[in-house]
Amino acid sequence: MKLLLWPALLALTLPGSGLAATVEDHAKAVLAFGPRVAGSAANGQARSYLEEQFRALGYQTRREAFSYPRFDDLGSDVRVGEQVLGGNALQDSAGGEVTAPAVRVPGVGTSADFARVDVRGRVAVVQRGQIPFIDKARAALAAGAVGVIIVNNSAGDLRGTLGQALNLPVLGVSTTVGAALKDNQPVTLRVRVRQGEVQAVNLIAFKAGVDRPEVLFGAHLDSVQGAPGANDNLSGSLAVLEIARQAANTSLSARSFFVLFDGEEDGLLGSRAFVKDNPSVTGGLKAMLNLDMVGVNVMPLSISGEAPLVEAARRAGVEASVGTPGSSDQVPFRQAGVPTLFFHRGLDANYHQPGDTLLDSELVRQAATAAFTITNGVLSAVPAN
Ligand code: BES
Ligand code: ZN
Repeated sequence: MKLLLWPALLALTLPGSGLAATVEDHAKAVLAFGPRVAGSAANGQARSYLEEQFRALGYQTRREAFSYPRFDDLGSDVRVGEQVLGGNALQDSAGGEVTAPAVRVPGVGTSADFARVDVRGRVAVVQRGQIPFIDKARAALAAGAVGVIIVNNSAGDLRGTLGQALNLPVLGVSTTVGAALKDNQPVTLRVRVRQGEVQAVNLIAFKAGVDRPEVLFGAHLDSVQGAPGANDNLSGSLAVLEIARQAANTSLSARSFFVLFDGEEDGLLGSRAFVKDNPSVTGGLKAMLNLDMVGVNVMPLSISGEAPLVEAARRAGVEASVGTPGSSDQVPFRQAGVPTLFFHRGLDANYHQPGDTLLDSELVRQAATAAFTITNGVLSAVPAN
């Protein structure tokens, strides 16, 4: 009895240590850094923390940097007097602050609609729908407006993209905010944006001497702005660390790479960079297993991918349904001809929302164990390279 208590005590007294710390400890530590938007300080802190955990398990680590341009909303809104109503800059909008009367434009904001009102020197308020955002904004600019507010036509905030830079501040707002904007009433439109270059980093963990892995376990560590990213995708990142822990003293560790991708939320950019920069690694892979959103049980664990791997999962007796693949980091690998398996438990209600604060450590461990078991089944069928 006494002996059995010791490991538990150690786990309690050594939080943060890769040997004894649990998935729960890691989740708590990483979530404290805040949302892990690619290029942010929190993203870097989370990576450093997890890098330490891989090292504590006896792995070496390598960082691969890449960069890409990104448009960021630094905080934009519309105000009526002192009252801040909210809003989001449309991507590619110009920045700027203007105070001017609001003019509600009839229809959906075609040139003909703008011809029916005088928006010169004013802020045009336009309904979403029927024609692209950029056409509404262009018509507003041509009619002499100094800013545009586009009002959503369904519930929730409006986030969108113009698709082309335009020299006019353009804000998207909810129907609630839209209803509070009265004709001819002065409003202050404040659009603060930045077109920057994101410095992103993929983290790779491997056992000393391994440069031609047969299996790659991956997950994206970055999250979207405003979302803590507990399920999307600290859950998958911690599953990869847990697989590394389970594999540490087995032959699997000598045949594997463990990769935490950056820039997934900006378009699978980390996995694309990895595939492009590591053709000799990618070319030798027998499988790439990607774990994304495995910490909240919207549905039982779902796996999807190439038939031989799905069959291997079935043979290994792993309890999982066969689902449809989502858009995540397995895609660039599949496009490069690597057999892939995608693990997820569905999109939860807090997907990309501020409420993405929870992950169930037990579900993370189960996903990791499933990936570990399937891989051992796949590799035992073929000799080591
Ligand atoms: N976590 C999602 C991917 C996902 C999809 C997980 C379905 C589980 C089930 C990912 O971070 C994401 O949001 N992907 C985007 C596309 C990506 C290219 C920005 C998506 O699915 O819309
Ligand atoms: Zn994700």
